[in-house]
Amino acid sequence: MNRATRRVASPHVVSIEDFRPLAQRRVPKAVFDYLDGGAEGEVTLRENCRAFQDVTFRPRHAVAVPHCDLSTRVLGLDFGLPVLLAPVGYSRLMHPGGEVAAARAAGAAGTAYILSTISGHRLEDVKAASPGHVFYQLYLMGGRGAAEAAIERARGAGFSALVVTIDTAVSGMRERDFRNGMKELISGGLLAKIPFLPQVLSRPGWLLSFLLDGGLPSLPNVAIPGEGPMPLVDVNAALASSTVTWGDLQWIRELWRGPVVIKGVLTGDDARRAIDEGAAAVVVSNHGGRQLDCVPASLRALPEVVAAVNGRIEVLMDGGIRRGSDIVKAICLGARAVLCGRAYAYGLAAAGEAGVTRALEILRADIERTLKLLGCPSVSVLDRTYVNVPSSWQA
Ligand code: GLV
Repeated sequence: MNRATRRVASPHVVSIEDFRPLAQRRVPKAVFDYLDGGAEGEVTLRENCRAFQDVTFRPRHAVAVPHCDLSTRVLGLDFGLPVLLAPVGYSRLMHPGGEVAAARAAGAAGTAYILSTISGHRLEDVKAASPGHVFYQLYLMGGRGAAEAAIERARGAGFSALVVTIDTAVSGMRERDFRNGMKELISGGLLAKIPFLPQVLSRPGWLLSFLLDGGLPSLPNVAIPGEGPMPLVDVNAALASSTVTWGDLQWIRELWRGPVVIKGVLTGDDARRAIDEGAAAVVVSNHGGRQLDCVPASLRALPEVVAAVNGRIEVLMDGGIRRGSDIVKAICLGARAVLCGRAYAYGLAAAGEAGVTRALEILRADIERTLKLLGCPSVSVLDRTYVNVPSSWQA
């Protein structure tokens, strides 16, 4: 057993929250805060987690459930777990294995990995590493030409779906990133970097692995025609040029020719618009509280979207998931499956692939235990009758 595997197999790691301090100790503050933080006052970031407490369970006791079925179907694909791995930018800064490690762990656990446009690994390598399905998350960074090239490559490489994020007109104001000098560290000159270097030098293990990995990666999936891969830029610069509008959906769909998932829906109106534009699924998401602060928790927005969609397409959700019981609650409220981001990225930052694998094992065990305690044999039969929802939440 190597050191990373030992670290996450420790008897002290029993919940997703236990990975957080491990990640914090391994990576520089700028990297940890990029992963951990949200926009402005981080109201939505906190609310995403807190909202799960407003929904309580209605268990059916004295029911024997010797075996639970955790499998689900999303976009016609079979998954062993109702949890997909959300796109997480800069994963290669969290650990050299980055997106490749996360995709491999997801596939081995029987679920899908969604690769962010802001990836340090080539999309072909990520797909090749995973024994399962991989989706590509699209930003229009680098302009339409770069996006068209990425879509063609993702199709050629065998990606199963395209996830288009619609909540990034600009980047949210992630104050921690500014304070930590994320921009200076990524794209500044040496003089600009100097005030922010102590946080990097205080993580020698991470620094060594980063240097052995070749230092700052480029963005190999954002290839500007005639110019080659875009250099790594901070998220503020990245998202400033990534805006997708409804008007883009047609050319994106025509080029992709497969299922398109719209991520970043918080209202019934946007969900109906996504259906009109040909989406195969929507993700109820506030981008993990990283974009517009003070929007509702994703779980709180879920009933309105589920009601508006009315079974016409699949509804997924992300935001605030730290336990299997959170996943069960989201499914009871109408989500087909959830996406988790930080819940696995803490594991990635703490211990690479072993950390992601362990995070998924914890979530799997959590879901199974929750189903047994609820007296429910399968995620496919979860519905509103298993939960109490505040009356003000009714869609
Ligand atoms: C990228 O998508 C981010 O939210 O940082």
